[in-house]
Amino acid sequence: TYVVTDNCIKCKYTDCVSVCPVDCFYQGENFLVIHPDECIDCGVCEPECPAEAIKPDTEPGLDKWLTLNAEYAKIWPNITDRKDPLPDAKEWDGVPDKLQYLSP
Ligand code: SF4
Ligand code: F3S
Repeated sequence: TYVVTDNCIKCKYTDCVSVCPVDCFYQGENFLVIHPDECIDCGVCEPECPAEAIKPDTEPGLDKWLTLNAEYAKIWPNITDRKDPLPDAKEWDGVPDKLQYLSP
Protein backbone atom coordinates (compact mmCIF):
# COMPACT_ATOMS: atom_id res chain seq x y z
CA THR A 1 0.00 0.00 0.00
CA TYR A 2 0.91 3.65 -0.26
CA VAL A 3 0.96 5.90 2.78
CA VAL A 4 0.37 9.62 3.33
CA THR A 5 3.05 11.12 5.59
CA ASP A 6 3.96 14.22 7.59
CA ASN A 7 4.28 16.86 4.90
CA CYS A 8 0.62 16.59 3.85
CA ILE A 9 -0.44 18.05 7.20
CA LYS A 10 -1.63 21.67 6.87
CA CYS A 11 -1.00 21.59 3.09
CA LYS A 12 -3.54 19.05 1.82
CA TYR A 13 -3.12 19.86 -1.84
CA THR A 14 -5.51 17.01 -2.85
CA ASP A 15 -3.95 16.45 -6.29
CA CYS A 16 -3.60 12.83 -5.16
CA VAL A 17 -7.35 12.38 -4.85
CA SER A 18 -8.15 13.15 -8.48
CA VAL A 19 -5.90 10.42 -9.86
CA CYS A 20 -6.75 7.49 -7.58
CA PRO A 21 -8.56 4.80 -9.60
CA VAL A 22 -10.21 3.26 -6.53
CA ASP A 23 -11.05 6.43 -4.53
CA CYS A 24 -9.37 5.22 -1.36
CA PHE A 25 -8.55 8.60 0.20
CA TYR A 26 -10.23 9.70 3.45
CA GLN A 27 -9.97 13.23 4.75
CA GLY A 28 -9.75 15.00 8.05
CA GLU A 29 -9.57 18.75 8.57
CA ASN A 30 -5.92 19.27 7.64
CA PHE A 31 -4.67 15.86 6.50
CA LEU A 32 -5.84 12.92 4.49
CA VAL A 33 -5.00 9.24 4.49
CA ILE A 34 -5.03 6.19 2.25
CA HIS A 35 -7.09 3.15 3.25
CA PRO A 36 -4.47 0.38 3.21
CA ASP A 37 -6.97 -2.38 2.40
CA GLU A 38 -8.42 -0.48 -0.56
CA CYS A 39 -5.22 0.85 -2.14
CA ILE A 40 -4.27 -1.29 -5.16
CA ASP A 41 -0.66 -0.13 -5.12
CA CYS A 42 -0.82 1.48 -8.56
CA GLY A 43 1.54 4.27 -7.51
CA VAL A 44 0.01 7.03 -9.63
CA CYS A 45 -0.68 9.30 -6.66
CA GLU A 46 2.93 9.43 -5.49
CA PRO A 47 4.34 11.78 -8.17
CA GLU A 48 1.16 13.92 -8.13
CA CYS A 49 1.70 15.23 -4.59
CA PRO A 50 3.39 18.66 -4.69
CA ALA A 51 4.48 18.13 -1.07
CA GLU A 52 5.99 14.71 -1.78
CA ALA A 53 4.01 13.33 1.14
CA ILE A 54 3.00 10.00 -0.42
CA LYS A 55 5.34 7.03 -0.11
CA PRO A 56 5.20 3.29 -0.67
CA ASP A 57 5.13 1.36 2.62
CA THR A 58 8.18 -0.56 1.41
CA GLU A 59 10.23 2.48 2.43
CA PRO A 60 11.79 2.02 5.87
CA GLY A 61 10.53 3.88 8.95
CA LEU A 62 6.92 4.35 7.90
CA ASP A 63 5.25 2.08 10.49
CA LYS A 64 3.88 4.99 12.47
CA TRP A 65 2.35 6.51 9.36
CA LEU A 66 0.91 3.24 8.14
CA THR A 67 -0.88 2.79 11.47
CA LEU A 68 -2.12 6.36 11.36
CA ASN A 69 -3.44 5.97 7.80
CA ALA A 70 -5.24 2.74 8.73
CA GLU A 71 -6.80 4.25 11.87
CA TYR A 72 -8.10 7.45 10.30
CA ALA A 73 -9.30 5.70 7.13
CA LYS A 74 -11.82 3.93 9.36
CA ILE A 75 -13.33 7.10 10.79
CA TRP A 76 -12.83 9.93 8.30
CA PRO A 77 -15.13 10.49 5.26
CA ASN A 78 -14.13 9.49 1.76
CA ILE A 79 -12.87 12.25 -0.56
CA THR A 80 -13.10 11.70 -4.32
CA ASP A 81 -12.69 15.15 -5.83
CA ARG A 82 -9.85 17.59 -5.76
CA LYS A 83 -10.42 20.80 -3.82
CA ASP A 84 -8.43 23.92 -2.97
CA PRO A 85 -5.31 23.40 -0.84
CA LEU A 86 -5.39 24.76 2.70
CA PRO A 87 -4.89 28.56 2.73
CA ASP A 88 -1.34 28.50 4.14
CA ALA A 89 -0.22 25.41 2.23
CA LYS A 90 2.84 27.10 0.73
CA GLU A 91 4.08 28.36 4.10
CA TRP A 92 3.68 24.94 5.71
CA ASP A 93 5.21 22.94 2.87
CA GLY A 94 8.48 21.50 4.19
CA VAL A 95 8.06 22.46 7.85
CA PRO A 96 9.42 19.50 9.88
CA ASP A 97 7.46 17.43 12.42
CA LYS A 98 3.97 18.51 11.53
CA LEU A 99 2.30 15.59 13.27
CA GLN A 100 1.78 17.80 16.32
CA TYR A 101 -0.55 20.00 14.23
CA LEU A 102 -2.76 17.18 12.97
CA SER A 103 -6.45 17.84 13.63
CA PRO A 104 -8.00 14.48 14.52
FE1 SF4 B 1 -4.90 5.20 -5.02
FE2 SF4 B 1 -3.00 4.04 -6.47
FE3 SF4 B 1 -2.35 5.90 -4.68
FE4 SF4 B 1 -3.17 3.53 -3.86
S1 SF4 B 1 -1.28 3.95 -4.98
S2 SF4 B 1 -3.83 5.51 -3.07
S3 SF4 B 1 -4.69 3.00 -5.44
S4 SF4 B 1 -3.58 6.21 -6.54
FE1 F3S C 1 -1.70 15.66 0.89
FE2 F3S C 1 -0.14 15.61 -1.19
FE3 F3S C 1 -2.54 14.65 -1.37
S1 F3S C 1 -0.29 17.26 0.28
S2 F3S C 1 -3.70 15.92 0.00
S3 F3S C 1 -0.93 13.86 -0.07
S4 F3S C 1 -1.50 15.81 -2.93
